[in-house]
Amino acid sequence: MDVQPVFAGNCTRCHASELVTSDERSDATEGFDYDSAEAARSSAWLVWSQISSGRMPKDAEFTTAEDALLVWEWLSCDGPE
Ligand code: HEC
Repeated sequence: MDVQPVFAGNCTRCHASELVTSDERSDATEGFDYDSAEAARSSAWLVWSQISSGRMPKDAEFTTAEDALLVWEWLSCDGPE
C-alpha cells in the first residue's frame, strides 16, 4: 500500500523533515513529519484524529475521501509499506 503520495499531497508542504524554520513549516508542530512512513506511524492515532476531525490539512480540504480511507487502512492494518 503506497500512502506516501497521499501524505505528499496533503501534509508535507508543512510537515516534512527538510522543512526546518517555522516559516517553512507554516508553524506546523515540530517533530510531526510525514515524509517517511515511520514518522507517520509513530503518531498514527493523532494523525487520524486530525484528518477525521477535518483539522488537517490546515489550509485545505483533504484531497479525496478515497485518499483519506487509504490512510485509515494503512494506519490501522499495519501492513507493508
Ligand atoms: C498548511 C500547513 C499544514 C498542513 C498542509 C498540514 N498541517 Fe498539520 N499542523 C499545522 C499547524 C500550523 C499545526 C499546529 C497546530 C495548529 O495550528 O492546529 C499542525 C499540527 C499538526 C499535528 C499536531 C497536533 C497536536 O495536537 O499537537 C498533527 C498530528 C498534524 N498537524 C497532522 C497533519 C496531517 C496528518 C496532515 C495532512 C493530512 C497535516 N497535518 C497537514 C499545519 C499544517
